[in-house]
Amino acid sequence: MKSSDIRQAYIDFFKKNDHTHVSSSPLVPQGDKTLLFNNAGMNQFKNVFTGLEKREYSRAVSAQKCVRAGGKHNDLENVGHTARHHTFFEMMGNFSFGDYFKKEAIHYAWDFLTNTLQIDKDKLYVTVHITDDEAAEIWHKQENVPKDRISRFDDDNFWRMGNVGPCGPSSEIFYDHGPDAAPGIDAKVGDEYDRFVEIWNLVFMQYFEDENGQSPLPNPSIDTGMGLERMAAVMQGKINNYDTDLFLPMIQKVCELSGKDYVTDLKASQELLTQTAAMRVMADHARSTAFLMADGVLPSNEGRGYVLRRIMRRAIRYGRTLSPSASFIPNLAQVVTQTMGGFYPELSRKADWIVQQCADEESRFLQTLDQGTTILETELDKLASGGTLSGETVFKLYDTYGFPADLTRLMASEAGFSIDDAGFEASMKEAKEKARASWKGAALSGDAAHLVEFAQSTTETKFTGYDRTSDQGRILQLSNGKELVNELKVGEKGFLLLDQSCFYAESGGQVGDHGLIKTADAEVNVFDCTKQDDRFLHHVEVIEGNLKATDAELLVEKSERRSIAANHSATHLLHSALHRIVGENVTQAGSLVDAEKLRFDFTHNKPLSSEEIQKLEEWVNAEISAGHNSQNLVTDMKSAIEKEGAMALFGEKYGDEVRVVKMGPHSTELCGGTHVHSTAEIRLFKIVSEAGVSSGVRRIEALTGDRAFAFVDKHAKENMQARKAAGIQESWQQFFEADASSNTAAAQTVEQVLDKQRQEIRDLQKEIKKL
Ligand code: SER
Repeated sequence: MKSSDIRQAYIDFFKKNDHTHVSSSPLVPQGDKTLLFNNAGMNQFKNVFTGLEKREYSRAVSAQKCVRAGGKHNDLENVGHTARHHTFFEMMGNFSFGDYFKKEAIHYAWDFLTNTLQIDKDKLYVTVHITDDEAAEIWHKQENVPKDRISRFDDDNFWRMGNVGPCGPSSEIFYDHGPDAAPGIDAKVGDEYDRFVEIWNLVFMQYFEDENGQSPLPNPSIDTGMGLERMAAVMQGKINNYDTDLFLPMIQKVCELSGKDYVTDLKASQELLTQTAAMRVMADHARSTAFLMADGVLPSNEGRGYVLRRIMRRAIRYGRTLSPSASFIPNLAQVVTQTMGGFYPELSRKADWIVQQCADEESRFLQTLDQGTTILETELDKLASGGTLSGETVFKLYDTYGFPADLTRLMASEAGFSIDDAGFEASMKEAKEKARASWKGAALSGDAAHLVEFAQSTTETKFTGYDRTSDQGRILQLSNGKELVNELKVGEKGFLLLDQSCFYAESGGQVGDHGLIKTADAEVNVFDCTKQDDRFLHHVEVIEGNLKATDAELLVEKSERRSIAANHSATHLLHSALHRIVGENVTQAGSLVDAEKLRFDFTHNKPLSSEEIQKLEEWVNAEISAGHNSQNLVTDMKSAIEKEGAMALFGEKYGDEVRVVKMGPHSTELCGGTHVHSTAEIRLFKIVSEAGVSSGVRRIEALTGDRAFAFVDKHAKENMQARKAAGIQESWQQFFEADASSNTAAAQTVEQVLDKQRQEIRDLQKEIKKL
């Protein structure tokens, strides 16, 4: 059975059993700073489990993209060395939110495995939590699983998403791949060998856990996870996930490019097995790379971007062990977009751009890989065998040659050495402190961990600012950036959380609002507003009185908000213009909208011509003149894309409910930002720069309204003066009449006049020389 058929059979089975099919959320969790990447199917339902959020359905099924390469669940080091670990994988899941519980969850899983997929019951084993007699009894009495096939574990049968979040005891289903999967080993359910493999985890969500311990959830719920890769191995009769149709196309590409064979015989030589492991790691890493890029992550030196860089550089370096010259990662990522783009259209939409970004990162790293490798080898030569590489060297390799520390560790361990992790961290910290000292004092920054906690001390902030710039709200909590406080005194800076707010919190490329908050005793300046877990952090400075948690009047700086709205709406029009004029392949790669300008990054591999820029301006200005009313609609993702034809954008929240903003017949986008009521309010649109930001990505900066007029006006005045000085002054009638073919003086440009004068000077200089 093909993996795509297994995926579909799973979704169909649960749909038939009254589950709503919910699409995968992006790999980058939206508004959840506790999580680096989506690492389980339940992430997008976290607030539904805890009761913070209500949905229209109480049963759901999904195929969720997951990355486990950092944070609590990190499988990076295992990849390629076991049959079943991946940095990227797809998790099939069925969920009940206070609807069914253990009995039904167990029955559905067993029914799907043994009837729909027709898996032999003799190959299956189950485990339950040591305390969970109820689940053990259901497996035995309801599904007739013999008692000796039910085992009990403690920690292995308790699932938690992270240090904070919903959790509960679990029951796992194992598949026996037979003795050949672990030759010569007396393998058992729950051990680390490849014979008994967990294929499905049923979590009985009962608790919410944080640093204060566990508290019961409002309703016991179900979260299950069935790894598609493991199930593909079962259904395709393979012991190793990498030998399924989910990985083989990439592995075949590696073989083609390197001229080497993929050898799976466990009795093959160590050299061949090492080569096989390298091919598997590369196939795995290419999947993470393509999927992460499709969700907007680019390799960088920080946060998520750094995890991606580590993954990519490991793959590139493994590639080097197979061939001194082949370019693997762009080619492999391309195969991923081709084989997976059907179910995950974001891959096909961005395929060219992904390949280009891979090529860029590869060439950046290859420039220093050889030099860094030589340095590493020289340093290792100096060590006694089995020694430890100093943290300073690891840091130098990282800082100067772009070697992520875990890559250095890997290369050192291949040669029989270890690295000084603590020393590396110390050098890293020192370098960061030096860097920090140079920009200290700018914006208000708080202690990040405290702010996460601070935000969670209240419920989500209700945004009331779509149609107003002033409102009432209640201040719920105050913080000085380090801890909760009861009061902020005049002159002090801090953060406020309110029950509702008309201040827009920075997101989707639009900056946070500025303004004032007044209470009976105090007045504060709001100089920024950001989002943390859907709570709005108002960054404030008290300018009068002492501020306490109380009712408040909220006043957003109106003229600024008007300019921001005009710039944001113009961004949408520009985006649709780019699609019409430059091509459907253009994809948004980032944007920034503030009161002064709009900035729009998009994927395109060459500079725009001046004709293209002119056409974009004409088109956007025509849409402005048309005075289209902007319409907002809150709907589900599927109808937004299918019915409304919305463009799903980089970094948008693909939650269950999405906001669609429509301006005229051509622009429909998913967007949470604030907009003009009519496009006529934008008044004028002028592109002021177009340039490359990185390869394959271009950036347009543009102005609207008064600022666009001021820009055009200044340039027109200067041009008129220059024309006067050049003797080619024209009346306004001549401006509209003159065309390039006419010979009147006014039809000339300043440039032509200058060219002519330069030529005259050159001629005269020659003349002088001759004389
Ligand atoms: N959340 C559980 C897991 O990831 C079940 O989906 O295994």
